[in-house]
Amino acid sequence: MEIVVSGIRSTGNLHLGNYFGAVRNFLKMQEENRCYFFIADYHSLTTHPHPDNLHESVKQILSEYLACGIDPEKATVFLQSDVPEVTELYLLLNMNAYVGELERTTSFKEKVRLQPDNINAGLLTYPVLMAADIIVHKATKVPVGKDQEQNLEMTRRFARRFNQMYDVNYFPEPAAYNFGHALVKIPGLDGSGKMGKSEGNGIYLADAPEVIRKKVMRAVTDKGPEKPNQEMSEPVKNLFTIMKVVSEPDTVEHFREKYNRCEIRYGEMKKQLAEDIIRFTAPIRERILEISGNNVYLRKVVRTGAEKARESAAKTVREVREIIGFKPF
Ligand code: TRP
Repeated sequence: MEIVVSGIRSTGNLHLGNYFGAVRNFLKMQEENRCYFFIADYHSLTTHPHPDNLHESVKQILSEYLACGIDPEKATVFLQSDVPEVTELYLLLNMNAYVGELERTTSFKEKVRLQPDNINAGLLTYPVLMAADIIVHKATKVPVGKDQEQNLEMTRRFARRFNQMYDVNYFPEPAAYNFGHALVKIPGLDGSGKMGKSEGNGIYLADAPEVIRKKVMRAVTDKGPEKPNQEMSEPVKNLFTIMKVVSEPDTVEHFREKYNRCEIRYGEMKKQLAEDIIRFTAPIRERILEISGNNVYLRKVVRTGAEKARESAAKTVREVREIIGFKPF
């Protein structure tokens, strides 16, 4: 059995791309492993969220993951800021993390470019905090997308360095979780590329039906096929890709045939697609609203989660302190 740790960004709601990507993976992982899933609210402070918004965004994203089926009975679900042991390990790891290597990470350089007025030390040591999140539970696996590979590499490096420095075999070097199935990449509806928060083309699980209809009806298409069985342009292919995951196979087939016979009306297809997305997201949206309105339940989830996470983290920190040479008088 693997020990899996994954942090969840506390900003940005879940869209269809997340649902068929990260969320699906979480659901799979929680069945087979000891999982620690947490909202990375400390990490979010690097961008200075307003105090009025911090709690609300944490609550929303937590509710959304729970609504999708993350199960606190199966996984340990908690908030990063409820586990102070992480910050202690972060401090200890910082002593062995070199400013030069931190400055050279792609994500840091990217942040320097994006927010030149707020290059704080938290940004520089972001990979150290992430390493602490992971190795505090002695994780063996971490699900990572492309953009987080380097951070995981840094985590392995810090774990290895600690082991070498103190001549112990204490921390495992966590590997990327391998899902062994190709993920469906959900494209955006703006003609090209994937669905993403930064792309501003997301259809969110919490979107109201009218919002979904508006977004889908605005989707980019083309002027229509000019000969039978013509190869599809990317925007049209993208409509079909989304339709394949939310609609009945017959529906997809119906529009594919229409396309092949040059009889397709994109307006009609979009109408159908919008209704099918709404049908797909409606029960999830309902659960999101229900869960985010149930403070008693949410409190129970994060309390139980924090308790379990702290137990695991405290054991590690206790042992790490001992290895480093702290002794009681
Ligand atoms: N850096 C991750 C992201 O931006 C979030 C994160 C924080 C994380 N700590 C983690 C992911 C630990 C995996 C493990 O998505």
